[in-house]
Amino acid sequence: MDASQQTVLITGANSGIGLECARIMSNLGYRLILVGRSKERLQEAIDSLSSETEAHMIVSDLSLPSAAIEVMTGVRELGCSIDILINNAGVGLYGALLETDPVKEEDMMQLNMQTLVQLTRLVLPEMVQRGSGRILNVASTAAFFPGPLMAVYYATKAFVLSFSEAIDEELRGTGVTVTALCPGPTSTGFAKTADMGRSRLFKGRIATARDAAQTGISGMLAGKRVVIDGAMNRIMIAFARILPRRLLARLVTFIQGPVR
Ligand SMILES: NC(=O)c1ccc[n+]([C@@H]2O[C@H](COP(=O)([O-])OP(=O)(O)OC[C@H]3O[C@@H](n4cnc5c(N)ncnc54)[C@H](OP(=O)(O)O)[C@@H]3O)[C@@H](O)[C@H]2O)c1
Repeated sequence: MDASQQTVLITGANSGIGLECARIMSNLGYRLILVGRSKERLQEAIDSLSSETEAHMIVSDLSLPSAAIEVMTGVRELGCSIDILINNAGVGLYGALLETDPVKEEDMMQLNMQTLVQLTRLVLPEMVQRGSGRILNVASTAAFFPGPLMAVYYATKAFVLSFSEAIDEELRGTGVTVTALCPGPTSTGFAKTADMGRSRLFKGRIATARDAAQTGISGMLAGKRVVIDGAMNRIMIAFARILPRRLLARLVTFIQGPVR
């Protein structure tokens, strides 16, 4: 089907990897629905897309339990059904569990996991009925490690990876595929929002949001199950798969540890 007749819903689309996904899908000619918390920032994102793109916005705080249903109500009101879902919105929170704000962590779990599952559940029936659809869930290289000093965030991303792999298998033969994108440290607003100024993780060379988005979209359109952005990250994860988890936890403590 012609891309302009297909609708892509992208969460967290006003900055970083989500905005780059919007730009790439816009260049490919798709109709877009961008979701985020700020009407002004979503409008700026829409204004930065190709003028030929049909783009809509739905303003929603996805850390609220009612968000997924509200978003899908907005989709119906626009008269659309979703052909491609990009579950990108997510936040992190730096610090040891005993020091971090439990309310922020609850919100993070709702945003990174529950809303992602709920949106997936809500778009899937129509995709399966049509016999086609693509879902891209933004996980992280964090998904492969225990994550001291960001324990809850790493665990949410392990959840996203496991969930995506499992339902892609469940959907085999339906024409619908689910892809987990695993970026490593990437230059976006993420580290600042997560209060990671003390971490070593973002001190080295880091990827661009454009590269991470391109890796995810190419993998999603090809129907791949898991895509890891960047050669160094792929090597690191190959090692992570064979090293003892206790050792990985020590390594991550060092990498996440405060720069003195
Ligand atoms: N950057 C990295 O190093 C990295 C590495 C691995 C994985 N990731 C993952 O990549 C995804 C995108 O993050 P990014 O790096 O592009 O960071 P970003 O630039 O901070 O973008 C995050 C996006 O999520 C939206 N968002 C945050 N909280 C939201 C909420 N409650 N409701 C609705 N939207 C919300 C933000 O919009 P507003 O705040 O304006 O509402 C923003 O558009 C996340 O899932 C993140 O975990 C990032």
